[in-house]
This record gives sequence, structure tokens and C-alpha cells, in this order.
Amino acid sequence: MKRLVCLGAILTLSSLAVLLLAEHRRPAALDAPPTFARDIAPVLYHRCAGCHRADGPAPFSLVTYAEVKKRATQIAAVTRSRYMPPWKPEDGFGAFIGERRLSEAEIDLIDRWVGTGTAEGDAADLPPPPRSGGWQLGTPDVILTLPAYTLPAGGPDVFRNFVVTVPGAGTSYVRGLEFQPGHAAVHHANIRVDATTASRRLDEGDPAPGYEGVVLHSADYPDGHFLGWTPGQTSSLAPDGLAWRLDAGNDLVVQLHFRPTGRTERIQPSIGLYLTTVPPTRLPAILRLGRQDLDIPPGAGRYRVSDSYVLPVDAEVQAIQPHAHYRAREVNAWATQPGGARRPLIRIEQWDFNCQPPQSRSSAGAGLVGLAIVGRDGGRVDPGDDAVRTGSRPAGSRRSPQDGARRRGRLRDADPASARLCRSAK
Ligand code: HEC
Repeated sequence: MKRLVCLGAILTLSSLAVLLLAEHRRPAALDAPPTFARDIAPVLYHRCAGCHRADGPAPFSLVTYAEVKKRATQIAAVTRSRYMPPWKPEDGFGAFIGERRLSEAEIDLIDRWVGTGTAEGDAADLPPPPRSGGWQLGTPDVILTLPAYTLPAGGPDVFRNFVVTVPGAGTSYVRGLEFQPGHAAVHHANIRVDATTASRRLDEGDPAPGYEGVVLHSADYPDGHFLGWTPGQTSSLAPDGLAWRLDAGNDLVVQLHFRPTGRTERIQPSIGLYLTTVPPTRLPAILRLGRQDLDIPPGAGRYRVSDSYVLPVDAEVQAIQPHAHYRAREVNAWATQPGGARRPLIRIEQWDFNCQPPQSRSSAGAGLVGLAIVGRDGGRVDPGDDAVRTGSRPAGSRRSPQDGARRRGRLRDADPASARLCRSAK
């Protein structure tokens, strides 16, 4: 039996992603000029409209013919250069559910559409418009609304933790969580569960909604599930047997990163929970690989950090999420199998803090034994300009708890092999 391992994170796309996979209906014959309705809209609705819609995180909508035609040349250019859609993991280094990468054929199709005069085509060919607003997974069983927060117009980025109590009575099993940021100033969110009242008390001690600073240790990810959100992320339901337990009266602690917009903004995110009556039969563990002893000499060129871990039991990689802040250049993770073969897990060659990869569920992870991973903060780190600006600081002063990571595993499973994995990952 295989154990489940989450490298950094777990669970994004499942059945929904499969449903979302738009196909080109009735593809144009090679010599027929492509039309918006028949050929282009299905691609854009599938790959772009998650962000480029009226209330999405992108600055303009790409849904109607008029909206798309106006930017046709630019769309051809940014898709050809692969600037859009944002998808950082390199092709050929791990396969992910919910990949946003365009195929060469799709890029060529957009080119041909622009080159042949951006025909609109027959409205009857249009696919259903993408959902805008609302919940991707349908009406949630429980909706938790965070207290409204007023983000100052300027100043540094704000990291703040909001506490919201799970209503009702008894125990629930959550098979899906959808986060609605409520505003494009929300850069990312991490959601943990606190079974104690410690987070709530800290929040109450702070006059504004939420509290600042590090999240308390009493708040943690539930049973090895990583609950996070980045813009444009597709929500999904957990596969069978992988729900997580949530007790009424527990608090969700939502750590938000805001980027001031130049205007004072009132922001009120909400969380939708999708429940099941089926308790989990498989419990994942999170392994965090990374380093907290980063000490990059001023002006250093390429600076490499790595970490690895040997699994004591067979495991199945469910999901992987690299995490680094501003200084990483490249992130690279792989598994070394018994025999020495290397299996790529993820590779990002141009790390960009502003373009965080979504938590990607690996679809290629079965049956690894003895997994050695270099990554998370691993790969090469380049101090870049920041190091020049901060070059007079004493060595070591640039260590950041947020750039580091620690190994950790959690698995409350009666299965002795899983327990061993969990113990050894601590
Ligand atoms: C994950 C969210 C997301 C997805 C998916 C996405 N975009 Fe964008 N797009 C953005 C954001 C945010 C910006 C504005 C910031 C920027 O230019 O990077 C943007 C900017 C653009 C721009 C303007 C670029 C410029 O130089 O000003 C174009 C054109 C564009 N997107 C086209 C597309 C197309 C076409 C797709 C699908 C094939 C797509 N985008 C998918 C988020 C997204």
C-alpha cells in the first residue's frame, strides 16, 4: 500500500478540472480562417477567463468578441512569448492537473486568427460563457465571511492573520474549500485550523480585524492538507477518502498577504466549505524541505541551497508547492528512485514572487521509494539587487523565517508504515 506524501502542499484540481477541459468543438479545417466563436473563445474561456473576467484578478476581461478583438495583436504576442497565461513550471518536469500552459497548436491558432483578420464567426458556435463571480464548485455547504479589513493606500505589503470560527455543532468532513479574496489586492492566502482559542484571543487583543505577525503554532494545516490560494487558482474537491476533519467551534486562521493599491480599500474575503459525510480513509503527510540558514554574501552571484529527504516507506506524491519569496531564481525538485533514476517533480527556471505557482497536484507520483528532493528554497538563489542594497548588513542578518522552511510530517494513521513516515519526517 502506498502512503501519501505532500511536498509542501496538497490538493487542487480533481473532477472539476476534468470537466473544465474545453475541447475545440468542430475544429476549423486547416485552410478555413479560424473564428472567435468556434476556435478562439474555447481556448480563452478555458485558459484565460479564470483571471480575465469582469471580477477577476487580471486588469481587463477577455470574454466578449469586442474585448478580445481590441487586444488581438497583444494577445498573440503574449501567448507566443508564453508570458500569458502565467504558468511557471517548465514543460517536461512533472505533470500537473490543471496546467494552464497553452499547446503550440493553440498558440498557432491564435496567430492564424489574428493573421486572417480576427473573424467573429457564428454566435451559435460560442461555448457557454465562463462563470464570473460566484463559487466555482457551486453553493458551499458552509460560508465563512472574514471581518472586513481596511487596507491602507500605500506603505509596505501587509501580512495579516484573520480568525473565523466554524459554526454549527459536531464534526464535519471537508472535501473542498474555496477561497474568495473579495479584492485583487489579495496576493495569496494560507488557511490553517486552530482547535484552541489562542488565535482568537490574539485577534481580540488587536483593535483592528485580525492580528499581525507569525501564525501561532496552535494553528496548523489539517491532517496534512495544505490549504492555500493564489490568484486564478481553480478550486477542486478532494478525491474519495481524502476529506479532512473539522470540528464546530474550531477557528480557521487565514493568513493573507495584501499589496496596497494606491487607494484605501475595504476587503472582505470569504471561504466556502464543501462537506461530505464520508470520513477520510487515507491521511496525507506534509513534508517541508528547505533551509533556514540562508546567509547570502553581499554581491554573491549564484548561491545554491538544497535539502533532501529519504522516505522510509513507499509513498505517492499528491501535490507539490514550491515556496520562496523575492530572492529565489530557480527552484528545482526531483525524486531519486532506488536504482538512481531521477524523476523530475517540478522545475521553475524564472522564479517570480508575483507569479506564485498554484498548488499543483502531481499526476505522476505513484510508487516512489526513497525520495530525495532538492527544492522548496532549493535550487539556485540569486541575491540580486536586494543584496547590493542591503550589502552593509552584517552576515546572517538577512535570514528570514519566511524564506526558510522546516521538515515536518503529520499523519494520524494507525498504519505503522505511515506512522513511521510521519515520525521520521519530524
Ligand atoms: C492567473 C491569472 C491569469 C491568467 C490565467 C491569464 N492572465 Fe493575462 N494577465 C494577468 C494579470 C494579473 C495581468 C496584468 C499584469 C501583467 O501584465 O502581468 C495580465 C495581463 C495580460 C495582458 C496584458 C499584458 C501587457 O503586457 O500589458 C494580456 C494581453 C493578457 N494578460 C492576455 C492573457 C491571455 C490571452 C491569457 C490566456 C491565454 C491570459 N492572459 C491568462 C493574469 C492572468
